[in-house]
Amino acid sequence: MIRSVRSLTLLGATGSIGKSTLDVVARHPDRFRIHALTAHRNSERLISLCLRIAPRFAVVEGGDAAREVQRVFRAEGCRTEVLEGLQGLLQVATDPESDTVVAGIVGGAGLLPTLAAVQAGKRVLLANKEPLVMAGSLFMDAVRENGAELLPLDSEHNAVFQCLPGNFSRDGLTELGVRRILLTASGGPFRDLPVETLSAVTPDQACAHPNWSMGRKISVDSATMMNKGLELIEACRLFGLPGSRVEVVVHPQSVIHSMVEYVDGSVLAQLGNPDMRTPIAHALDYPARIESGVEPLDLFRVGRLDFQAADQDRFPCLRLAYEALAEGGGACIALNAANEVAVDAFLQGRLGFTDIAGLIADTVEGFGACPVSSVDDVLLADREARRLAGSLLDALVGGHA
Ligand SMILES: NC(=O)c1ccc[n+]([C@@H]2O[C@H](COP(=O)([O-])OP(=O)(O)OC[C@H]3O[C@@H](n4cnc5c(N)ncnc54)[C@H](OP(=O)(O)O)[C@@H]3O)[C@@H](O)[C@H]2O)c1
Repeated sequence: MIRSVRSLTLLGATGSIGKSTLDVVARHPDRFRIHALTAHRNSERLISLCLRIAPRFAVVEGGDAAREVQRVFRAEGCRTEVLEGLQGLLQVATDPESDTVVAGIVGGAGLLPTLAAVQAGKRVLLANKEPLVMAGSLFMDAVRENGAELLPLDSEHNAVFQCLPGNFSRDGLTELGVRRILLTASGGPFRDLPVETLSAVTPDQACAHPNWSMGRKISVDSATMMNKGLELIEACRLFGLPGSRVEVVVHPQSVIHSMVEYVDGSVLAQLGNPDMRTPIAHALDYPARIESGVEPLDLFRVGRLDFQAADQDRFPCLRLAYEALAEGGGACIALNAANEVAVDAFLQGRLGFTDIAGLIADTVEGFGACPVSSVDDVLLADREARRLAGSLLDALVGGHA
């Protein structure tokens, strides 16, 4: 069968997901063409990618970063057109010349471009979980109404997707005999550290994940297990199950990427080396399977697979995510916004590791209930929650000084 060449827009090309995606794509020059690459401020990396790949468009934040990219492109005779800021992101996310959009921006900044790609009916490969956490049902309604194809890149959700029958619908998992989703978690770098030492851990220690190589924000999220909390919310939204039917299982080897338990007692799992190129390759050419460059899994070297319950006292962020999911309304938006503020403050050395959960809890509690029935409501709630988290942070840091 001859398959048409896919034209890709890569949102967040300069990040970890961007790097892994470009690695897979480079192995299949006959299957994929890069249409657009986007960055935020890392103009140096964006320039080097564009000089090598020559996409039709490059997007970068306006101002100095954009001027620098344009200057180098002119000097090097690179014909890639430079677009700026959110307008540029929205343009490339919806461009009819591109059929597939990889959502690899980090945080809530990915919401509008990813949603725009969905509304344009694209195949969207979703790594950026925060938009789904923030806009939940609005996002999933947009997928259905616009005939978009949403394929999860997060390794856990991609694993669940692979363990479900090909024709599943998110309203029909119970009819298909699905009892539960078992979401695996490595437990991060601090799984076995004495709890009383957690308050002194540094950003570099938090970013040194034992199994996965990722951007700094998601690495800190993995260390607090908020990443698993966000993934729990993501799983409920993607697969249409309540939080009570998604269990987090700590599995230190990160070889099983998640499991689906059926009513007959069968548990289907997807295994592989912890390398994002596997879910990326799976989704890029789905349903065809393509080489990803990932080493075959050597089960004899792995030797054993361990499992333990997630300790929500050690990792209060996970409990906060379950609670926000149950509360609904704006609670997940506040949870996500406060987490971004708290992680940023931790990475800047302003907030201690164990204060992250407290800041999130106080923000969600102070934010209270709010109706969310449009994207404008989501953006407003996000802004308000960030403002509240920022002022709670200032009060806390001031209190420590
Ligand atoms: N890394 C993984 O293995 C992994 C696995 C599963 C899911 N995810 C999810 O995938 C997303 C990306 O993670 P990552 O680890 O690849 O992050 P990362 O390495 O920090 O890269 C983030 C990307 O987003 C861009 N960006 C940051 N802020 C932006 C803004 N305000 N507007 C536009 N672009 C912006 C960055 O541009 P600059 O480089 O110019 O700053 C960069 O290209 C996250 O939502 C994460 O949870 C990641």
